[in-house]
Amino acid sequence: MISRERKEQLLGHRGLAIWMTGLSGSGKSTMGLLLEEMLHGEGVVTRLLDGDNVRTGINNNLGFSDADRTENIRRIAEVNRLFTDCGIVVINCFVSPTRAIREQARSIIGSDFVEVFVDAPLEVCEQRDVKGLYQKARAGEIKQFTGIDAPFEAPEMPEVHLPTANESPEQSAERLFEHIIERIQLPSNA
Ligand code: ADX
Repeated sequence: MISRERKEQLLGHRGLAIWMTGLSGSGKSTMGLLLEEMLHGEGVVTRLLDGDNVRTGINNNLGFSDADRTENIRRIAEVNRLFTDCGIVVINCFVSPTRAIREQARSIIGSDFVEVFVDAPLEVCEQRDVKGLYQKARAGEIKQFTGIDAPFEAPEMPEVHLPTANESPEQSAERLFEHIIERIQLPSNA
């Protein structure tokens, strides 16, 4: 099998797994889309993973119990490895609500794992309520909704912290981009 190093040489950058965690509505997907555009513009091959493309496909048999969320994240982390082994930069947008769940992902992915906390207060996410799910959760129509009747444990030492309620999406994305570009550079041949 052709080595990861040779594939990274071919692409001109390293593989990496960017792991965004945060409440529903905190801005993970917005950040992911902006970052993907910026990286693509620099010639970086990316793959964006989120609930829309994972929970409808590979994980369409999983719900939101603790066990199912753990399995959701385990499979996603394994998929990340397949991509990073090809030198691809994976952008993950999942609530991944507990430290244990994120540690599981980190232990599967290893040193390619970059934790990014997309940090908006619950009040702000609930006010945005882009998908109308907070209203349903408050009404008791959705059970175990993260932030309402299921926990969200903020990361203690994220590699990147994006307070999306206090800065523009472009500002947050720019900071994230600067960090990621540093991480994926190959050593120069000079
Ligand atoms: S995770 O907890 O397993 O990491 P994931 O990121 O895949 O969650 O999916 C979260 C998305 O599913 C939310 O943005 C929201 O749109 C939707 N969702 C539906 N039910 C729930 C729930 N009970 N808790 C959180 N998100 C939910």
